[in-house]
Amino acid sequence: MTSITNSKSWLALAEHQKSINSAQMRDLFNEDKDRFNHNHIQFDDFLIDFSKNRITNETLPLLVSLAREANLEQWKDKLFSGDKINFSEDRAVLHTALRNRTNTPVMADGKDVMPEINAVIDKMALFSESVRSGEWKGFTGKRIETVVNIGIGGSDLGPAMVCKALKPFGAKHISPLFVSNVDGADLAQTLEKCDPHTTLFIVASKTFTTQETMTNAFSARDWVIGHLNDSAAIRNHFVAISTNKSAVEAFGISPDNIFEFWDWVGGRYSLWSSIGLSIAIFLGIENFKQLLAGAHDIDNHFKTAPLEKNIPVILGLIGIWNINFFNFKTHAILPYDQGLSLLPSYLQQLDMESNGKFIDREGKRVCLHTGPILWGESGTNGQHAFYQLIHQGTEIVPTDFIMPIHSQYKIGKNGDEHHKILISNFIAQTQSLMLGKKEEEARNEMVVAGFPEKEVNLLASHKSFLGNRPSTSILFDKLDPKTLGRLIAIYEHKIFVQGVIWNINSFDQWGVEYGKQIASLVLPELREKSATVSFDSSTNNLINYTKKNL
Ligand code: F6P
Repeated sequence: MTSITNSKSWLALAEHQKSINSAQMRDLFNEDKDRFNHNHIQFDDFLIDFSKNRITNETLPLLVSLAREANLEQWKDKLFSGDKINFSEDRAVLHTALRNRTNTPVMADGKDVMPEINAVIDKMALFSESVRSGEWKGFTGKRIETVVNIGIGGSDLGPAMVCKALKPFGAKHISPLFVSNVDGADLAQTLEKCDPHTTLFIVASKTFTTQETMTNAFSARDWVIGHLNDSAAIRNHFVAISTNKSAVEAFGISPDNIFEFWDWVGGRYSLWSSIGLSIAIFLGIENFKQLLAGAHDIDNHFKTAPLEKNIPVILGLIGIWNINFFNFKTHAILPYDQGLSLLPSYLQQLDMESNGKFIDREGKRVCLHTGPILWGESGTNGQHAFYQLIHQGTEIVPTDFIMPIHSQYKIGKNGDEHHKILISNFIAQTQSLMLGKKEEEARNEMVVAGFPEKEVNLLASHKSFLGNRPSTSILFDKLDPKTLGRLIAIYEHKIFVQGVIWNINSFDQWGVEYGKQIASLVLPELREKSATVSFDSSTNNLINYTKKNL
């Protein structure tokens, strides 16, 4: 395949970028009073405003042609029809089947996967209900009050993010806790909050071999047995979510307590599978199904909406425009919702593990920038930390502002004062990033405010803002399970769109393996008393210094 950078639309976009490189968004808004109208998409209560990006009326048609030239429509078909598009792991990519609430058959390897998916959802429903109702008892006959999910990466971030985001929908009598880091502090501090008689551990690991998860799981098992004085207690206090049944049984978890999923579910796309068990227990199965239904709505939208009106497609293309044509290499996720404070970390894995790749589908080095460095923090907290750089730094950071119109909470004056302040901050940020403030404007402001001339001369440049900084705003009515499902699926498909255009496999993660491999060589050295000499001098000395002082 010839590189996308030689395609007609890419070359046209490069020319177009040159022609608008110095265009100022504030002028574009002044010249076209309707700019918002033709640069937003509405989908039920979702409003996606991308008008504050450095685009003109010519940009989107060119970007859409690029998507067509990259065969995006055909790639969408392959995604939904169970083709093994994760070719480097010889796997289909069927997280969309997990939320296929219409139950139309979805084939993988010639077999409809829907009956198995539905059977697991039914098993999750029965189990989560029995824990919530108190029918499921701990070994000493007490009901479960704490559920600890032990997992890492995709087996942790999704459920942790969702449980935090939807806390108001959660059971008041069950605390969901999450342990991921192999740093013993994570497990130790979590166990301090747990009563062994009333704690259920979910060991969530697709492979059931991940070092961090297994180390934490074994220590948790020792803790339970140590406190309840009987290894039979494992049956009441441990369940597993995995594709590796034999390893789960070897750990001592009964086959009845295994929740299955499949190799065609990627770790970072797995919260829709049984990996979502902690979500189902905390929120109840009906809310879990609503989460699935929200994602399914976006799957349908992504499948059927014309590219020009397709939310994930437009977001993906604007991302390409910013990264590849403006060279803006990072991207900030700024949710104005405290519940979504884990969303940036969740999307970090989703995006950077999917598209942080320099080898294309043909095994050759790509000749363009791929995945952006994704980061972020909830608003307004970030405003008092890194927004300084976003406003006045030398690096331009495209941003996604995410904002529910209604809060999940009624608090303060009139019950909505906090939220109005929050909304005003979000809107003000997007406007000031776009508008900027010329030095002349800063100077005039100071003069009108009566500052002495000396101070005006000293400070006007410091109080100026270049503006023209791109942002996209994503609004919806209220954060609930269905809305959150929609929001996550929008990002999943956006990332897919970008991977298609960059011609990379967004569904493997070989980059993570290398560090694991080396760690497996270092660990035996740390256990060994004699000096280590087999690595480079820095690595040898780091190991030897540690051993000496351990
Ligand atoms: O970080 C690499 C990774 O393979 C992720 O893709 C995955 O989500 C995580 O490790 C956990 O893997 P597992 O569920 O097999 O323990």
